[in-house]
Amino acid sequence: MTAEMNAGSQDPVYVTDALIAEDIDAYLLKHQHKTMLRFITCGSVDDGKSTLIGRLLYDTKMIFEDQLASLEHDSKAVGTQGGDIDFALLVDGLAAEREQGITIDVAYRFFATDKRKFIVADTPGHEQYTRNMVTGASTADLAVILIDARQGVLTQTRRHSYLVQLLGIRNVVLAINKMDLVGYSQERFYEIVKDYSHFAQQIGMESFLPIPISGLKGDNIAARSAGMPWYQGPTLLQHLEEAPVNDARMQDYAFRMPVQWVNRPNLDFRGFAGQIGTGTVRPGDAIRVLPSGKTTTVKQIVAYGGNLDQAVAGQSVTLTFADEIDCSRGDVIVQADEPCEVADQFEATLVWMDEHAMLPGRPYLLKIGTQTVTATVTEPKYEVNVNTLEHLASKTLGLNAIGVVNISTDRAIPFESYGVNPDLGGFILIDRMTNATVAAGMIHFALRRSQNIHWQAVDVNREAHAALKNQKAAVVWFTGLSGSGKSTIANLVEKKLHALGKHTFLLDGDNVRHGLNRDLGFTDADRVENIRRVGEVAKLMTDAGLIVLTAFISPFRSERRMVRDLMAQGEFLEVFVDTPLDVAEARDVKGLYKKARAGQLKNFTGIDSPYEAPELADVTVNTVELSAEEAAERIVEAILAR
Ligand code: ADX
Repeated sequence: MTAEMNAGSQDPVYVTDALIAEDIDAYLLKHQHKTMLRFITCGSVDDGKSTLIGRLLYDTKMIFEDQLASLEHDSKAVGTQGGDIDFALLVDGLAAEREQGITIDVAYRFFATDKRKFIVADTPGHEQYTRNMVTGASTADLAVILIDARQGVLTQTRRHSYLVQLLGIRNVVLAINKMDLVGYSQERFYEIVKDYSHFAQQIGMESFLPIPISGLKGDNIAARSAGMPWYQGPTLLQHLEEAPVNDARMQDYAFRMPVQWVNRPNLDFRGFAGQIGTGTVRPGDAIRVLPSGKTTTVKQIVAYGGNLDQAVAGQSVTLTFADEIDCSRGDVIVQADEPCEVADQFEATLVWMDEHAMLPGRPYLLKIGTQTVTATVTEPKYEVNVNTLEHLASKTLGLNAIGVVNISTDRAIPFESYGVNPDLGGFILIDRMTNATVAAGMIHFALRRSQNIHWQAVDVNREAHAALKNQKAAVVWFTGLSGSGKSTIANLVEKKLHALGKHTFLLDGDNVRHGLNRDLGFTDADRVENIRRVGEVAKLMTDAGLIVLTAFISPFRSERRMVRDLMAQGEFLEVFVDTPLDVAEARDVKGLYKKARAGQLKNFTGIDSPYEAPELADVTVNTVELSAEEAAERIVEAILAR
């Protein structure tokens, strides 16, 4: 039997590299000069990923005596499936974090052979863990895609392969696992390889290496399989030892270094610290700082332990310049004669990783390199069905969806197409309110239009407009439930301001929805777009010098914040018309609450659509305690007090 044979050929399980105990320095030295391969394993839930990793750790003697000993006490941990060790449970036993209930996690495991060191990102296989896979894959040189030989190519296999391809991993191993359970059938192996080839071709994967394995029995992991003499290729470990690592490619590429921080210990020293993303730099090299485009030459390369004559991709250094030019965190220092592009609108692929679907028009934080900017996303151009690779029309992207969108950022950023340089082409989107990472993205290219539209300077500017009206422009933003009294109070406020000789304009939800926004309904996405447009209109009106009053439910903090950010400091006044739901519902001025309760009106705010109350409103008026007249009085005072 193969299992016994393999077990017989192994060194005893319990002995790890004895050197580590005797002489830790010698042990570390032994590993120091080896190259490091980072790889990721991906697969579905039951395809034996943990078993495979356990087997790799075991075969490379990375499981320590004491770990095994403690696991032995736990009768579950060392199973007795025909005398085999249950490697999956063994790995799970090593992963204490799982027991603590942290389910969303990428565990990185280290092991080494005489030839090379390895870091494997172990990512759970459930569909909701696409996020983990993307995280793990972003730094990987190689991907092991696991298939259960009994199951063949599954949706998860396709999704993961598509992501691996998208993330630019060019070295792919198709590990067809559990071969022992299909009688080591060569026919079954080729059937799966053929099936996968077809899909690989469709997604543009140039090559992959299929290996028939059994993680449980150890076939073709470290040792060749006696059960599969028909397989002539390398074992998994052999291939992992020989696969190329990425470092070489990065050093040949043009010089790029995103600035992490500016090091200014005293007036005589000003250095720019960061990790070199690609290329090589030497003192005297001509460089350019992006996005400004200013040029100078490198004076010194300062590193821990002294100045360097040269530094390469992967090294963390501080550069000093020959000239005093502006450069700050988030800027990218590039080779002067081979700069990267700078733009504020892109086409990109997004992998959505949050339970809350993407909201076109909502501002998200976009983190790229060392830079974080605010970005909005358009409705998807299309979503990709990972099974059929069809392009589907879609209004949004839900959890795990992959789609192509346009993105615009509030500032121009240096970037490169992800396919050329993942360092400057890969980004994540973060929700501004929850701080959750909601998507991973890959830039394709900049949109031409962003380069051809410039701000037109006008001579009669916003200050001139406001001065003529003898006032300071402002947006007074009312927010609150339907029927809370926003329109009534805003109307009174406008009358009072008008009487005081102020130039005002009132934008009201119901009115704007008859014209400019007649194409919008009450889904979350439509409400986001409603507020985005109203915000932009209000902003234009303040440019004209007006005091603008707006009365919209504006249920989301994100969008109210977006409008606040559009305005100059102190020009945005958020007024919370604080009427409890039961009071608004009891008033039910338009009879809409009754309809909503009867199920005749969907997505009604407060009933089946959320309202996020302001946390820091500039003025809050409680309409249970105050009359509309008193509330208006208070708001006018606040406006005039600015
Ligand atoms: S917002 O959420 O996008 O800011 P807006 O203030 O423009 O909403 O419009 C709200 C008004 O539309 C309400 O006062 C109500 O008269 C009407 N309306 C119709 N359907 C709904 C709904 N499903 N939810 C909330 N308001 C609705």
